[in-house]
Order: sequence, then structure tokens, then C-alpha cells
Amino acid sequence: MERITEVMINRNEIAEAVERLGRQISEDYKGREIVVIGILKGASVFLADLIRKIDCPLIMDFMQVSSYYNSTVSSGNVQIRKDLDYDISGKDVLIVEDIIDSGVTMQCLKRELFARNPKSIKVCAAFDKPSRRKVEFTADYIGIEVPDEFIVGYGLDYAGKYRNLPDVCVLEVDGGDK
Ligand code: IMP
Ligand code: MG
Repeated sequence: MERITEVMINRNEIAEAVERLGRQISEDYKGREIVVIGILKGASVFLADLIRKIDCPLIMDFMQVSSYYNSTVSSGNVQIRKDLDYDISGKDVLIVEDIIDSGVTMQCLKRELFARNPKSIKVCAAFDKPSRRKVEFTADYIGIEVPDEFIVGYGLDYAGKYRNLPDVCVLEVDGGDK
């Protein structure tokens, strides 16, 4: 069984971070149209809050991916389970992700999307766990850096559950399998 042990980041701290990110993105993309790509399912809660803090024209699209890391060659691959509806060639793309952990998903996804010839690609993550990186990856916009704990809430899940918690909480799992 698993249990929630503490609140790590409360809803007010999250809201402040989202506000700051929205301001920064609005300034950086001033007058340009952004294609915002939410990574399902985890980023959906963050995406809904973030886009309402961005005052540039934007188009919203979604992708669902799973990533695989091959430790013998120290790199990964993504399988696309749901692809974009829009053609991103020539567009300014902003990928919105819930959390960056090993970095494998974002590194691979960025490579995959660059092959479609967008004008630019940036990544915005609600949370970042830099101590867990397996590959080098730095997001362009980061909400809140977190320590190496398994967290749930604000879109983040454990076995599909807890995405609806308004605060980000630490989850302890018996058996230790994160
Ligand atoms: P990675 O950066 O390729 O390792 O993958 C990041 C993905 O792993 C995220 O999109 C989440 O779905 C999941 N993930 C990583 N850390 C956590 C966590 O602490 N709680 C819930 N999901 C997590
Ligand atoms: Mg995810």
C-alpha cells in the first residue's frame, strides 16, 4: 500500500510559480503565436492554469508518449501513443510537461519534434528533479525544483491516482518501488 506523508508544495506556492512562468513566457513570446503542447496526462492540470496566465495568441494541442531508456547505450526512445493534431512546421512550440525526472522523455521528444521543422521548441515544466537525471536535459522554464521524493497531486499520479489533489504531496510506497 501507499500513503501520503506530507504536503511538499501547497496550492498557493504552485499558483505563484504558474503566475511567474506565465509572465515570463508572455514577455519572451510577445506578439508571436505559440503552439502549446501539453503532455498527457500529467501536464493537463498545469496546462489549464498556465495558458490562462499567458497573454499571447496560442493554439493548444496534446501528445501522449512513453519513454524507454536503454542503459547500455545511455540514451532513450519515445513511443508516441497520441500524436499532435496540428502541423508544427515553422511554428514556435512550447512543450508543457508535469515533471522532469531522468530527462529521457523530454530529450527524446524534443528530438522527435525538431524533425518536423518548427521555428523553435522550448520546454516548460511545472516541477524539476535535477538530481535524478540520466541524460543531460535543461528545461527553458521551470516552476519549482524538487528533491528526490516521489510526489503526487496537481496532475501527478501514482498508478493513475491522486492527480486531483490541489497540493503536491509526498507519497511513500511500501516495497519502495517508485
Ligand atoms: P523522465 O524525465 O523521462 O524520467 O519522465 C518524467 C515522467 O515521469 C513524468 O512525466 C511523470 O509522468 C513521471 N514522474 C517522474 N517523477 C515523478 C513523481 O515524483 N511523481 C509522479 N510522476 C513522476
Ligand atoms: Mg508524464
